[in-house]
Amino acid sequence: MSRLDLDFIRGQFPAFSEPSLEGFAHFENAGGSYACRQTIEWLDRYYRQTKVQPYYDFPASRSAGEQMDAAKERMAAWLNVGSDELHFGPSTSQNSYVMAQALRQELQPGDEVVVTNQDHEANVGAWSRLEDAGIVVREWRVDPDTAELHAIDLEALLSERTRAVAFTHCSNIVASINPVRELTDLIHEAGAWAIVDGVSFCPHGMPDIPATGADIYFFSLYKVYGPHLGAMVLSRKLNAELPYQGHFFNAGKPSARFTPAGPDHAQIATVNGVMDYMEAVAEAHGAAGKTAQDRAAAVRSLFRDHESALLQPLLDFMSQHPRIRMIGKDRAPLRAPTVAFTADGWRSAELASRLAEHKLGVGVGHFYAYRLVEALGYDTDDGVVRASFVHYTHPDEVSRLIEALDTLL
Ligand SMILES: Cc1ncc(COP(=O)(O)O)c(C=O)c1O
Repeated sequence: MSRLDLDFIRGQFPAFSEPSLEGFAHFENAGGSYACRQTIEWLDRYYRQTKVQPYYDFPASRSAGEQMDAAKERMAAWLNVGSDELHFGPSTSQNSYVMAQALRQELQPGDEVVVTNQDHEANVGAWSRLEDAGIVVREWRVDPDTAELHAIDLEALLSERTRAVAFTHCSNIVASINPVRELTDLIHEAGAWAIVDGVSFCPHGMPDIPATGADIYFFSLYKVYGPHLGAMVLSRKLNAELPYQGHFFNAGKPSARFTPAGPDHAQIATVNGVMDYMEAVAEAHGAAGKTAQDRAAAVRSLFRDHESALLQPLLDFMSQHPRIRMIGKDRAPLRAPTVAFTADGWRSAELASRLAEHKLGVGVGHFYAYRLVEALGYDTDDGVVRASFVHYTHPDEVSRLIEALDTLL
């Protein structure tokens, strides 16, 4: 497999030729990525040509429905699941909220669910509120020194009453890639469902979902070069077992049971743009003609190799700098290129503003991982600085970030 052709990649993103963004380096990708041109083109075309109610028998309507079906089928194939297992909702937070309502009806008082304090609140709050229904909520806590979750601590929390465990594939602050399969196996051995937040993992290559072992796997397409939409893979077994949350007359339709609102048709159709982009990357790197799983695996490793090569110098700089307190591991292959940190003597907001003067766009705050930032002893009002990048990031942009930090600190 060849190396990532960065000129080709950046050529797929209009942001890199947008005059108003010239010279700006985007380091808040964990918040939201740039959209690839294919996403923008699908959305534009849908609104121009087929912005009608889909699935009726007139041409624009037929086409709209066909685009939506194709989007689901193509993304499902890439994720190695059936199209009936993939659901699109407004966001991950809304998807987890709906699934929590289903669990509320299904579980009995005294049943237990486990949440972590490493997760974004989207994968904590919805489940924690089940406490109102008499469900016992246990917290699997990070090691406060390393910010890592340890499987042994989860084992101690599992009991015969545990019905579900919600954890993150990759935290939006710590960025370690959690051993998802080891954890889902442990959870299944305890007879519970594994609910996995893949929002921070997927921008770096969408996974083979069955290989993760997740019963529910969430991610958000606006961080994966696409439209503002939440994606949720739900196992067929769970879909059949949990009470439906949609309209009563749709109770027998797996695709409508857990997405109660009328979906955003245009954005669903636009998922084709994300898939066109993934296919174009595969094709440009010699993976055309392979199976969907091989193409997906090829794109994953192209992204990861490029990101790891750029990440290691940043981790080396941060971990060795006397004034920087970096969160997470210092070896690139073990984590995503999302690096959160604070600097001695600096308010995080002030440092982020100073970096912005260098045309470096970083994020600052608790990033809705409030419980984590609190558990690590940071001021939740000021939070941490976060520099996050993806496969389209140029090595020069990372060098500029390192130089600016060196100058400022
Ligand atoms: C790790 C993680 N999980 C969940 C979410 C929530 O996703 P959404 O904005 O689609 O609700 C985010 C959003 O930033 C996130 O970073």
